[in-house]
Amino acid sequence: MFLKFPKNFLWGASTSAHQVEGNNYNDWTEWEKQNAGRLASQAHKKWASWQQKKFPEMFKPENYISGKACDHYNLYEKDFDIAKQLGHNAHRFSIEWSRIEPKEGKFDKSGLAHYRAVIHALKTRGMEPFVVLWHWTLPPWLSKEGGVLNNKFDRYFSRYVEFVCNGLKDDVEFWITLNEPTSVIVNSYLRRQWPPQKMNIFAVLKAYSNLSKAHNLAYYQIHRLSPKAKVGLANILAYIESRNPRSFIDRILAKIFHYYSNEKIFKLTSGRHDFLAIQYYLHDLVGVGKKKPLPEDKVSDMGWEIYPKGIRFVLEEVKKYNLPVYITENGIADKSDLKRLSFIKSHLIEIHKAIEEGVDVRGYFYWSLLDNFEWDKGFWPRFGLVEIDYKTQKRTIRESAFDYQGIIQKNGVEL
Ligand code: GAL
Repeated sequence: MFLKFPKNFLWGASTSAHQVEGNNYNDWTEWEKQNAGRLASQAHKKWASWQQKKFPEMFKPENYISGKACDHYNLYEKDFDIAKQLGHNAHRFSIEWSRIEPKEGKFDKSGLAHYRAVIHALKTRGMEPFVVLWHWTLPPWLSKEGGVLNNKFDRYFSRYVEFVCNGLKDDVEFWITLNEPTSVIVNSYLRRQWPPQKMNIFAVLKAYSNLSKAHNLAYYQIHRLSPKAKVGLANILAYIESRNPRSFIDRILAKIFHYYSNEKIFKLTSGRHDFLAIQYYLHDLVGVGKKKPLPEDKVSDMGWEIYPKGIRFVLEEVKKYNLPVYITENGIADKSDLKRLSFIKSHLIEIHKAIEEGVDVRGYFYWSLLDNFEWDKGFWPRFGLVEIDYKTQKRTIRESAFDYQGIIQKNGVEL
């Protein structure tokens, strides 16, 4: 049986500035230098023996320095040629705030001109740009002033958005203000794994509030400047269950976790979404008991469970908002490329079920077009449709990327 996707469905892939561009100077660049040695020496505690064997680069400090990354800043045209060759008709990428406003209040026109050229390169290749305004990194002047916890964060963000939007509005319809605010809140202020590595419940609540205010203000700002704009916020939604359904504590914990992960940001930004940008990776079993490790064939290289049904459940969850939905990230770390095709297909089959149940899904962006710098994990996880040789910057299209191309050409998947 053939599952056809709606007419004019958008098909593409995502990237983010810091993960692919290379030669950035932001809060992460500084943090990487300070923490690369520690991350390399802690890898043996963090990863299973099969992962350590498969990715010995995780023990090297240079794995944790973004450096030149994929040199996408210079090679974007080459990369978009590949995306075009693979049939993509849309592309999601982010703008690096530190390139636009390297010093407080000093906006760099040449920084913006680069992104104008990027958008032009996409459009001439027939790809609809989805522009993310903030994918986690901050200009160092702002991180020194407390980053997202700064009381003026929303105004700083809005001023930056105004500059960018004024410069790009003629060529951009789809704007995503923030990428996954909850990932930053959890990893920076609860788990203490990302800069600025603070653990403080007040900081968590403040970050929720400041990031939501920033989105809300930017939403109005963009609409004021560009009446044709469609504005959203990319939210990571996990499929959450209690680890032991018979345990009262686990059930309560799962409810709390669900609220903070999948609901709170939507509540705080309600009425300021023209579309929903949903990102799905995780099936989270929440509870106090021990987690059962899953066998290698059921997980990605990063140990994340492959659980396609979850994407349908989270899509059904957001049906109540009655908005168009774009899946702006979904992907797998799979160096050998043995699981990627079945990952993509099985998730698309579930997305198709959600569409049949009335969820208005209009696009799918695989994470990621290129192998890239995976934050505190560095370079070893390989998410790309395109493999990167970081020494030579050679691009090699993975087999699964051609299979995805086949899906795009037919606008659907074979069951
Ligand atoms: C997302 C994030 C991306 C990428 C991906 C895979 O949460 O937005 O930047 O890192 O996870 O880990």
